[in-house]
Amino acid sequence: MGSKLWGGRFVGDTDPIMEMFNASIAYDKRMWDADIRGSKAYVKALEKAELVTTEEMENILHGMDQIHDEWSKGVFEVKPGDEDIHTANERRLKELIGEPAGKLHTGRSRNDQVVTDMRLWLRDAISTLKRNALQLITTMVERAAVEMDVLFPGYTHMQRAQPIRWSHWLLSHAVALSRDLERLHEIRRRVNVLPLGRYTHADTHTAMTELAFDDISINSMDATGQRDFVAEFLFWASLCLTHLSKMAEDLMLYSTKEFSFLVLSDAYSTGSSLMPQKKNADSLELIRSKAGRVFGRCAGFLMTLKGLPSTYNKDLQVGGGGGGGGGVCVCIFFFLCQINRGVMEAALSPDMLATDLAYYLVRKGVPFREAHGISGKAVFLAESKSILLNQLTVEELRTASPLFSSDVSAVWDYSSSVEQYSAPGGTAKSSVAAQVEHLRTWLKKQ
Ligand code: ARG
Repeated sequence: MGSKLWGGRFVGDTDPIMEMFNASIAYDKRMWDADIRGSKAYVKALEKAELVTTEEMENILHGMDQIHDEWSKGVFEVKPGDEDIHTANERRLKELIGEPAGKLHTGRSRNDQVVTDMRLWLRDAISTLKRNALQLITTMVERAAVEMDVLFPGYTHMQRAQPIRWSHWLLSHAVALSRDLERLHEIRRRVNVLPLGRYTHADTHTAMTELAFDDISINSMDATGQRDFVAEFLFWASLCLTHLSKMAEDLMLYSTKEFSFLVLSDAYSTGSSLMPQKKNADSLELIRSKAGRVFGRCAGFLMTLKGLPSTYNKDLQVGGGGGGGGGVCVCIFFFLCQINRGVMEAALSPDMLATDLAYYLVRKGVPFREAHGISGKAVFLAESKSILLNQLTVEELRTASPLFSSDVSAVWDYSSSVEQYSAPGGTAKSSVAAQVEHLRTWLKKQ
């Protein structure tokens, strides 16, 4: 038992099944870099507090650099008994520099280490996510600017509703993602805190600056025992994937032959081993499925936290657990798809102007509720005659209301229908262009 970091008081061996059950190295090894950075900062903090000599510090730093080198070259050898990443790195340090390695753990517990590693690791992951999300939003905004004039059907309840700009659809997803990015900034602020546990023995300020943390936690029990920053991140990932999944679902539908609004790029589609004609939107389906997996992790982690007593409990080990919150880096592919402007615009139909027909009457003084009913009657009349709404003659329309006259023909214009919504957030070109500008300004500030 002597070889274990905690073996001193044990006389019996650990059962191999328990070794396996207890070990987290399989997934926490991905925090190797954070673990090394944490240890390097910690030994500097120990030296500042005169708990190790400068020479010992230099030795440890040098050993840690060698270990870093081994991990980055993929030659670090995980040995049986390396319970977790902290144990593995410390074991290797001892092999490399001998006894001084034992001083690194002065006044520090793995409970401090793991939470420091997780914060560093998550901070890096957040930076990557932020970069990817920004790229995605930028691409969406610029595409919206270029394809501003493309009209297509807007849907509610998945039924044809009113004509909209394709850009308006694009930006509706971009703004949701921009809020996700803002939430991520907020979360980063709470992640970027040095979890002060036993670090109290060392010079905490040195550790904080070395690791570029913005703050130091003010309570050591909270620092080692809380994982709300992980739960918060998992919720963030769930919400963000909800947005991506919704977008993926629309795109999947729009790429079906029935819609044919867009053609997915070959680079992000797959085929069928049986049916030669097929082109499947696997990438979009995978995004949708990842959302489910991340929700599960979020709910599962909250279940784990609920009812844990104060400070560190081994249950928290799952917080560093495999799978992670990746998946946001996926959506950029979508912009390789091509839209079929002709099909999109051909999919517009006069019934989608039924609201405009009601507005026509409103302009003639009819209360909207009544106008809605009259327009509904006109829709029914067209349907019962198996003709399109705009094929009803003025005389036929007059059976629904005497206020219809020949100027009703102006209603049957998709562009002016879209243009009438010029208030902020609307579908008029000026309004969508304002959305593009708003997001461009926002992007510059990120
Ligand atoms: N592998 C552990 C984890 O991820 C490190 C902390 C172990 N602490 C302990 N008291 N056993 O949480």
